[in-house]
Amino acid sequence: KGLAKKAGKANKHEIKKAAVLGAGIMGGGIAFQSASKGTPIVMKDINQGALDQGLAEASKILNKKLKKGRIDGNKLAQTLNNIEPTLNNEALKDTNFIIEAVVENPKVKGAVLAEVEGLVSEDTIITSNTSTISINKLAESLKRPENFCGMHFFNPVPLMQLVEVIRGEKTSEETVAATVAYATKMGKTAIVVNDCAGFFVNRVLFPYFAGFSLLLNDGAKFANVDKVMEREFGWPMGPAMLLDVVGIDTADHCTDVMAEAFPTRMQKLENDPISVLYNNEFYGQKNTKGFYQHS
Ligand code: CAA
Ligand code: NAD
Repeated sequence: KGLAKKAGKANKHEIKKAAVLGAGIMGGGIAFQSASKGTPIVMKDINQGALDQGLAEASKILNKKLKKGRIDGNKLAQTLNNIEPTLNNEALKDTNFIIEAVVENPKVKGAVLAEVEGLVSEDTIITSNTSTISINKLAESLKRPENFCGMHFFNPVPLMQLVEVIRGEKTSEETVAATVAYATKMGKTAIVVNDCAGFFVNRVLFPYFAGFSLLLNDGAKFANVDKVMEREFGWPMGPAMLLDVVGIDTADHCTDVMAEAFPTRMQKLENDPISVLYNNEFYGQKNTKGFYQHS
């Protein structure tokens, strides 16, 4: 009932064109999902390689669907047309919904959010796909925190159903409503949660990764842990493979945020295997080197 009421309020905020800042694992997936469900989206990055990869990934998924007869050529062309890759800010000016998806670093995110707020119209909604950083903390860099909330997708975006919409202390109900409505239009199920580091899902997932790190430091072999969690326990993938999928760099940044927010419960291990890999530039699937070697 509450969500239906919010969806009503959200009609005031029709999204003509959205923008995602960052075209990495998440930004690329978010752009694809928005485009395929009919909302045009600007995909901005500071690195041409990331834009090329984002588009190539979208094209690969669409071509596979075309080959299987699940979409026709029109749908393929329309979806790709709905994604506008760019390296500059000009294209952001006529967007009215922003999803920030750059690196998990509060300072970088704060600067990116403040910059985009200065470019867009006053009623533009700005959201962050942060995994762990408090929305109240990020809101401090903004002049209009009422227009800001968390919009947390899961990886891989086209396949994961859930989106957490995180309500900061100053977030307006209209902002929550419009964000829930957009997630729904993207074919996702939104849940609205209050703010704290890690929100809902990552307060479950990161203690799980921390437990995995403890096991490794106690002498367990990562491949054995994965084998048991996958084959015997029945999860789609074990923690080592999941960390490679998430990105070990991102997981390490998230662990730092959680350790700072929950110093007694989420203390970072000395020689945490995730940090050791990160410090040796093993970032997981994204750079082919992680717990596993990827092609
Ligand atoms: N994008 C789009 N399509 C994809 C894809 C991707 N990345 N990966 C696979 N697909 C397609 C496949 O090609 C396949 O298509 P067809 O049906 O046409 O053959 C289809 O999707 C199903 O693929 P699979 O059979 O390989 O996979 P599955 O259905 O068995 O499971 C999964 C896929 C649901 C993603 C499963 O692997 C899974 O649950 N993995 C764990 C994911 C997870 O836990 N994510 C959370 C990470 S943490 C996070 O996101 C939060 C954070 O803040 C860090
Ligand atoms: P990624 O490293 O794959 O991509 C980040 C992208 O941001 C890179 O392409 C980089 O060039 C770009 N970037 C950096 N600074 C920028 C700027 N100023 N403007 C525009 N682009 C910029 O990272 P990711 O995995 O896509 O994660 C992005 C965000 O999403 C993080 O906050 C992360 O915590 C969150 N997240 C990640 C996952 C996951 O499983 N990887 C899941 C949910 C949420």
